Formats: sequence, structure tokens, C-alpha cells
Amino acid sequence: MARIAVMGSGAGTNLEALYEEFGEEIVLVVLDQAEAGILKKAERFGIKVVVEEGGEDLWERILGHLDGIDLVCLAGFMKLVKEPLLGAFEGRILNIHPSLLPKYPGKEAWVQAIEDGAEESGCTVHFVDAGMDTGEVVLQARVPVLAGDTPETLHARIQVEEHRIYPLAVRRCLSRI
Ligand code: GAR
Repeated sequence: MARIAVMGSGAGTNLEALYEEFGEEIVLVVLDQAEAGILKKAERFGIKVVVEEGGEDLWERILGHLDGIDLVCLAGFMKLVKEPLLGAFEGRILNIHPSLLPKYPGKEAWVQAIEDGAEESGCTVHFVDAGMDTGEVVLQARVPVLAGDTPETLHARIQVEEHRIYPLAVRRCLSRI
């Protein structure tokens, strides 16, 4: 059994996809905002939740919760991961990002794709390093941008692929740890 922590502050749909694949191997959810929808999903699945919203020693405190964790999966976690967490989990932190990196890093990548007039976008699972969405790519999936797409319809199409490739990428990384 692996021990996986998920960190996020969004709707929690990727947590749900990972939970469907890994079940009780997901032992911890770390929130960086208390009110997130991910909280309700974590509670429904019976996963332990900790909330760490900020402060000077944020990364030390989060690291303190990760004793015995094999892999950390960011899913809608909107802060750049810093030391000492980054070094302690080098090569063991994954992130899902809603674009074909290196295109459209940062926030609301689906809005960036629409505003750029892109004909396709997608999602990327990558290792986390000190940069913004710059780490080594593990898996990507493409989706078309369709005529009439709004940011919401494009994000929904991207999320279908996120939920498909994130469990695959996690499985691949666990086999290497
Ligand atoms: C996902 O689309 C994820 O790719 C994105 O936040 C959403 C979280 O959704 N992450 C980023 O934009 C990170 N830069 P979820 O809470 O339903 O999994």
C-alpha cells in the first residue's frame, strides 16, 4: 500500500478521480483554503483533512503533516511549493495543470487558451520544481478548443482528461518510488 497525500483548494474533482483509483491509499488531504469544495469530498471519503492557509512557517507546518507519505499530488493547489517541503519530497510531488505545458502556465490556463485563440489545449501532469508549472512532464492529454467554447466549457472538457490521466501518472510514479 502506498501512502498518498493530496493538496488542493478547488472543487475536488481530481481528488475524486484519484480516490476512485487509489481508495484508502489516499491518507491525507491538505487544504490551503478552509471553504473549498474539496473539503466536502474528503470528508465524504473519510480522508483525514488538515487546513494550512498561510503564515511564515507554512511549508514547515505542511511538511510536518507528511511523515510517512510516499507521494504528494497537487490538485488545484494554487501556491508555489517552497522549501523545506520541496527538497524533502524532491521527485515525489506531482501537479495537474490544465494546459499543454509549457503553454499557459499559471492561473486559469483555460481562459488563457481561449483568449489566445488556441485551436487545442489539454492538461499536463508534471513533477513540481521551484518554478511555476515548469517541472518534468509525466503525461499530457490534448483536447480541441471548439467554436463557441467558453472558458467554462473548455475547462470541463479538459477536466475529463485530467481525471483520466492523473491516476495513470500517479500509478506510473508509484512504480518508480
Ligand atoms: C484543475 O483543473 C487543475 O488542473 C487546476 O485547478 C483545477 C482544480 O480542479 N490547477 C491549476 O490551475 C494549477 N495551476 P479540482 O479541484 O476539481 O480538481
